[in-house]
Amino acid sequence: MARRFSTVVFAVMVVAALVQSSKAETHEVGDDLKWTVPSNGSVAYQNWAAGETFLVGDVLEFEFTTGAHDVAKVTKTAFDACNSTNPISHKTTGPANFTLDTSGEHYFICTVGTHCSLGQKLAVNVSAARAETEFIVGDSLGWTVPSGGAVTYQNWAANKTFVVGDSLKFNFTTGAHDVAEVTKAAFTACNGTNPISHETEGPADIDLDTAGEHYFICTVGSHCSLGQKLAINVTTNSSTSPTTPPSSSTTPTSPSPSGGPSQSPSGSTTPPSPGSAPSFSVAGLSATLLSVAAALLY
Ligand SMILES: *[C@@H]1O[C@H](CO)[C@@H](O)[C@H](O)[C@H]1NC(C)=O
Ligand SMILES: *[C@@H]1O[C@H](CO)[C@@H](O)[C@H](O)[C@H]1NC(C)=O
Ligand SMILES: *[C@@H]1O[C@H](CO)[C@@H](O)[C@H](O)[C@H]1NC(C)=O
Ligand SMILES: *[C@@H]1O[C@H](CO)[C@@H](O)[C@H](O)[C@H]1NC(C)=O
Ligand SMILES: *[C@@H]1O[C@H](CO)[C@@H](O)[C@H](O)[C@H]1NC(C)=O
Ligand SMILES: *[C@@H]1O[C@H](CO)[C@@H](O)[C@H](O)[C@H]1NC(C)=O
Ligand SMILES: *[C@@H]1O[C@H](CO)[C@@H](O)[C@H](O)[C@H]1NC(C)=O
Ligand SMILES: *[C@@H]1O[C@H](CO)[C@@H](O)[C@H](O)[C@H]1NC(C)=O
Ligand SMILES: *[C@@H]1O[C@H](CO)[C@@H](O)[C@H](O)[C@H]1NC(C)=O
Repeated sequence: MARRFSTVVFAVMVVAALVQSSKAETHEVGDDLKWTVPSNGSVAYQNWAAGETFLVGDVLEFEFTTGAHDVAKVTKTAFDACNSTNPISHKTTGPANFTLDTSGEHYFICTVGTHCSLGQKLAVNVSAARAETEFIVGDSLGWTVPSGGAVTYQNWAANKTFVVGDSLKFNFTTGAHDVAEVTKAAFTACNGTNPISHETEGPADIDLDTAGEHYFICTVGSHCSLGQKLAINVTTNSSTSPTTPPSSSTTPTSPSPSGGPSQSPSGSTTPPSPGSAPSFSVAGLSATLLSVAAALLY
C-alpha cells in the first residue's frame, strides 16, 4: 500500500517535473476549523473552498482525529444526499491526503453518523494546471553576442507569449557574459550602471513574476550595443493560448543574412530601429528562423 502510494507520488513528481515547475500546493481543509462538524453547517466549507484555487496536482489535507471522523470521496449525487454507501474512496485515518488528480468537481463527505448532513462535506472545483514554461533565451544560440545584432533576440521573443509564472533561462558561460534586468531607458542606452537585478553566474534562471515589459542586457564590454539585449512583454493571463502574431503581413521575406539590426523588410509596418526601442512584432523574422524556432520548440 505504502509502496503503491509512493509510486503514485513518484509518478506525480515526474509529471510535475515534465510540466516544469508546476508548483503543487497542499490545502489544509478548513484551515483552523480543520475537518469536523462545523457549527454553522456546510456553508463553512463552501466559504473555505471559495477562497482557494485548486489546480490539478494539488493535495487536500484533511486533519481530523482518527475514529471521530473520516473522509470519503463520493459522487455528486452521493454528496447531495449524504449517501456513503459506495464511496469512490474512503480514508479513516487522520490526517488524510487526497491528491486532486483530475480537473472538475470533487466531492468529499464524512461518513460518521449524521456529520455530513450537519455540514461536514466539501465540494471543490479543480482547474487544469497550466504548464509553466521555461524559455531558453535564444534557444540553441544561448545568451551571447549574436552575429545578427539585436534583432536576433527581438525575433526570438517576437511570437512567444510570456505569462507571469514562466521563467527565462539565460544560458551563458560564467565570466564571459552576465545578465542584468534594467529599465527601459537603461536598455535603450545599454547602461548597466544601476540594474534592477544582476546575475553573473550562468546559466541564470529568472522568474517572470510581474506582468509588463522586462528588459535584459549583458553588461560585459560592449556586448549590449552589439545586440546582446532582450525585451519581452509579460502578460497575466494563463488560460489563453499564445496569441497569433500581431502582423498580418508575414509573407516571409527571403532571409536577409547579416541583416543589420536596423534593417526591416520593406512593406512592413514595423517601427524602425530595433536598437533604440524594442519592437514586439514578427516582421523581419525569416522563414528559416521560424522553422528553426518551431523545430526547437516542438
Ligand atoms: C462558519 O464557522 C466557521 C468556524 O466554525 C467560521 O470560520 C466561518 O466564518 C463561519 N462562516 C459563516 C458564513 O458564518
Ligand atoms: C445510496 O447510494 C447507493 C448506490 O451508491 C444506492 O444503492 C442507495 O439506494 C443510495 N441510498 C439512498 C438512501 O439514496
Ligand atoms: C499530506 O501532505 C502534506 C504536505 O504535502 C505532508 O506534509 C503530509 O505528511 C501528508 N500526510 C500524509 C498522511 O500523507
Ligand atoms: C467548475 O469549473 C468549471 C470550469 O471553470 C465550470 O464550468 C463549472 O461550472 C464549475 N462548477 C462549479 C460547481 O462551480
Ligand atoms: C510563431 O509564428 C509562426 C508563424 O507565424 C507559427 O507557425 C509558430 O507556431 C509560432 N510559434 C509560436 C510559439 O507561437
Ligand atoms: C547551454 O549551453 C551549453 C554550451 O553551449 C550547451 O551544452 C547546453 O546544452 C545549453 N543548455 C541548454 C539548457 O540549452
Ligand atoms: C547610467 O545610468 C545611471 C543611473 O542609473 C546614470 O547615473 C548614468 O549617468 C547613466 N550613464 C549614461 C552614460 O547614460
Ligand atoms: C505589453 O502588454 C500590455 C498588455 O497586454 C500592453 O498594454 C502593452 O502595450 C504591451 N507593450 C508592448 C511594448 O507591446
Ligand atoms: C484573463 O482571463 C480571464 C478569464 O479567463 C478574463 O476574465 C480576464 O479578463 C483576462 N485578463 C486579461 C488581462 O486578459
